[in-house]
Amino acid sequence: MNKLLFSIIILGTLYTFAIAENSQPTGDLTFNQLLDNITRAAPARVFPPAAEETGNLASAADGRYWVTVRAADKYARTRLLEAGMDIVKIDEGSVSGLAGPYTMDLLSSKGFIAENRLPLATYAASSDRDFPAADAAFHNFRETTHLLKQMAAANPDIASLFSIGTSAEGRKIWRLRINSNARGEAASSKPGALSLGKHPAREHLSNEVPLLFAAWLLDHKNDSEIKLYLATLDIYNIPMLNPDGVEYDVKSGKHRNYRKNMSVNLDKSHGVDLNRNYDSWWCQAGASSYPDSDTYCGPNAFSEPEIQAVKRFVEARKNLKTYISYHSYDSAILYHWGGSEADIPDFKDRQVFEKMGAEMGRFTGCLSHKSSDMYVATGDSCDWAYAAGSIFAFTFELKGVTFIQEPLPSAGPLRTISRRPPTCSA
Ligand code: ARG
Ligand code: ZN
Repeated sequence: MNKLLFSIIILGTLYTFAIAENSQPTGDLTFNQLLDNITRAAPARVFPPAAEETGNLASAADGRYWVTVRAADKYARTRLLEAGMDIVKIDEGSVSGLAGPYTMDLLSSKGFIAENRLPLATYAASSDRDFPAADAAFHNFRETTHLLKQMAAANPDIASLFSIGTSAEGRKIWRLRINSNARGEAASSKPGALSLGKHPAREHLSNEVPLLFAAWLLDHKNDSEIKLYLATLDIYNIPMLNPDGVEYDVKSGKHRNYRKNMSVNLDKSHGVDLNRNYDSWWCQAGASSYPDSDTYCGPNAFSEPEIQAVKRFVEARKNLKTYISYHSYDSAILYHWGGSEADIPDFKDRQVFEKMGAEMGRFTGCLSHKSSDMYVATGDSCDWAYAAGSIFAFTFELKGVTFIQEPLPSAGPLRTISRRPPTCSA
């Protein structure tokens, strides 16, 4: 494999080693400090929480259910996504996740068997709260903005902060660039590497890892090995693509388990699934055209301002070579295609994907495989980036923290969710 791609792999996975190290807090915005906070914020948690934790915010049903459905294989999982289900957990023979009334009806009419269903509580529609106290180490939009500004200000020699566009509700989508001789929008002839988090609002760890990555690079910018990478690469970090969804997810002080952005749809429902909105077999499989469902693909490809911003950003930077799109379903490194079961036609590229996937898997303890082995889902960010820009794009599914909103207090025990630091190994 070519040397350049290999160095990008190393760069993209080195910090995962550091994550495994025992780190001592040393300052305000260093990698160690951030990691330490996140690690401490990740004890095992049992749902539903004790009554006193539930508070009195739970007033009515959210309309959605936490549901476990029998699903034998990836084909069944793809059909569940098409019915609008947000799949959170895949087990042998079944999947669990979130489903609204439309999806529940569709499931039974399509012959799916729901093993149990628990109504989710609704939380205050407007409130200026934040992550629950136990998860305070996670960064909301304001904190993420602050941190990125601090990183840029503390490292003016190599870091610059810009916005790639604004969200549906007008928040800035930040991108931190790390490049030893090009700042802001200036073109660079060095190969570009992009890390992007937060297509789905509820996958909060996917903001933290790109933030940690940036902090780690900046902490180590004078180490000889890292210096070399920084001198030869054009590194972009977009940790929070979906700031509106993130804020909505936690603003009641509880996790709402919200997946989409905050666009208002024609039927007045909210949100489009941002990882179904790219122009890549748009809305053909593993996506729903029903606006109120969790996997709604939008009225057309690239309908969403957040996805238009990614499109503009990527299309304007022909030097981009690699891309990691962070998610947090479980530990996996996924490569092409996600929207089709076919292999990519270019044999050499396929070898690069397999080799890079395997190498990154070796470093991190993650299993690397074809995205569509999990399920087929069209409109996917990585599929589009490779098809449109020949970018070697990977989806990283981070194991560690899954936030599950508790069911209504009367619904009885749900499950234990273990919350661990962001590593891949079991
Ligand atoms: N959890 C991601 C999503 O649903 C998976 C992305 C990978 N793509 C795929 N087609 N499997 O958006
Ligand atoms: Zn995801």
